[in-house]
Amino acid sequence: MPDEHRYPDEQREAVYRVIAERRDVRQGFVPDPVPADVLRRVLAAAHQAPSVGFSQPWDFIVITDRARREQVAALARRHRDEFAAALPGARAHAFDRLKIESILDTPVNIVVTCDRTRGGRHTLGRHVQPQTADFSSVLAVANLWLAARAEGLGVGWVSFFDERELAAHLGLPAHLEVIAYLCLGYVTGFASEPELATAGWARRRPVSWAVHAEEFGRRGLPGEEPVDPLADLIAAIAPPDQAAMTAAAERQDRMTKPRGSLGVLEEVSVRLAGLAGACPAPLPEPACVAIFAADHGVHAQGVTPWPQEVTAQMVANFLAGGAVVNAFAAQVGAEVTVVDVGVAASLDPVPGLLPRKIAPGTADFTEGPAMTREQATAALTAGAEIARDLVAAGNRCLVTGDMGIANTTASAALICAFTGADPAEATGRGTGIDATTYARKVDVVCRGLALHHAVLSGPARVPPGPARVPADPARVPADPVGVLAAFGGFEHAALAGFILGAAALRVPVILDGVISGAAALAAAALAPDATAACFAGHRSVEPGHALALSQLGLTPLVDLGLRLGEGTGALLALPLVQSAARALRDVATFDSAGVAEKL
Ligand SMILES: Cc1cc2nc3c(=O)[nH]c(=O)nc-3n(C[C@H](O)[C@H](O)[C@H](O)COP(=O)(O)O)c2cc1C
Repeated sequence: MPDEHRYPDEQREAVYRVIAERRDVRQGFVPDPVPADVLRRVLAAAHQAPSVGFSQPWDFIVITDRARREQVAALARRHRDEFAAALPGARAHAFDRLKIESILDTPVNIVVTCDRTRGGRHTLGRHVQPQTADFSSVLAVANLWLAARAEGLGVGWVSFFDERELAAHLGLPAHLEVIAYLCLGYVTGFASEPELATAGWARRRPVSWAVHAEEFGRRGLPGEEPVDPLADLIAAIAPPDQAAMTAAAERQDRMTKPRGSLGVLEEVSVRLAGLAGACPAPLPEPACVAIFAADHGVHAQGVTPWPQEVTAQMVANFLAGGAVVNAFAAQVGAEVTVVDVGVAASLDPVPGLLPRKIAPGTADFTEGPAMTREQATAALTAGAEIARDLVAAGNRCLVTGDMGIANTTASAALICAFTGADPAEATGRGTGIDATTYARKVDVVCRGLALHHAVLSGPARVPPGPARVPADPARVPADPVGVLAAFGGFEHAALAGFILGAAALRVPVILDGVISGAAALAAAALAPDATAACFAGHRSVEPGHALALSQLGLTPLVDLGLRLGEGTGALLALPLVQSAARALRDVATFDSAGVAEKL
């Protein structure tokens, strides 16, 4: 009888209710003391948590003394200030508005500790995973948190501490670690959603993103159809909202300025409104540049004077903050994230590096496909997931970046494949090459196109979509994933997924140069409406880039003769896109400001 041990409906609902309504509370504490019997109940609940080998590694230090709490609050304040100082622009403003601890606003603080040595060396299950002791103490925290909610007590977890520094303040023996510092007190109310979600700092990920069937990557909730992430993504991409675009265009005409005087920025504001489905659109900030890095088999053909190791060396430079992209990101207040989708060298884990390596570099496309179809799909999916995660982390504007020695060669081949352009027209000098190398590069692209001609053929198809699609019916290869696999780098495929991810989430994505342009062609071939999310940051001097932008129907926002990549040109355009959105939102209209219109 499967139902035999089930709780009655009302009790079951209470369990799910307390799970749903538990909140991390930082606001609205009242000074009323917490009675000792209530504290004993929540501590007893904590003490009933599961633990590895039943080792019960926790202790609970109950702090009520004001002077001690003041000392602890000073420690937290220092780390809060350090964290704030490290945040880029818009993030720093948003963080200023957040309260991260209530040490002095709550009558009771409870420290939960862990003793990894408790029970001796034969503690069942801890011998291979010593960290399971810590996990056990965290489960005690979870029990305490839930019981406190049922008692109507708010709990806030503070982790802005140097663990050893806090341990010394609390007089912890050296073998005990601090797991959690919790602030408890009665409250004026419990919010229905996490405060970080209502403040726009981060979003809740849907449960379907977190559930996999049998093995990682096969997503789907039990009893529901398995999810094909790429197909789902493409299906989620819809045309821009015409009503919001019309409202934005009308508002531009009523703003206190001559009609059309903001030029291209007016179009940007209208497109942002169409993408968001709202007029005015939300401000595209905070922004994050994702630099997708990978190596290319075609490097072996001598298409660049730079050794392949430079890809990994530049990745290290991005992570150390020493590249141009870091300087520009700091200037415009954007966060920098580096994604290893296929760097040949293995990279050490460092904060800011997302390890998503599909393989250590592609194969040489003059000898066979650069990647398998499975690899291309995996890279597309990885890029889309990064877009999704960066948006869930609170970003409202994504910026494309790339790093990969020899990737202008792969870009030229992709641009030829997607636009039908001549290799001599689409191939550029990349980082700067002499005439002999340039001739070889064009020849390499020609040989690649000849070898993979089968994937280029396909019915001529006019990309559907409204007028922003170029009037010239472009030939779109029938198998865009096949084209990516034939010529692309892992960064091209991941960038195409990143663009599709942004489009599906209706978040603007500012494109950088020729590598992003080639990737955007692939994204548009997979989902023509994806271009509605794309803003061309700049026009690179690489000739293929202009061809790509023209096929995509995108107007570059700056044209400064750049040819660096990394995301640099797109970052320069970020304040332009943000200014366009802000103008539509903040500028008065003739009627609201009482300004007379032109006769
Ligand atoms: C391990 C851990 C550490 C946390 N540290 C902090 C913190 O230092 N400051 C803070 O304001 N919130 C902290 N939180 C609370 C989270 O921000 C909060 O749980 C999250 O936003 C989800 O909201 P909810 O708990 O209301 O569902 C922490 C939560 C956990 C689980």
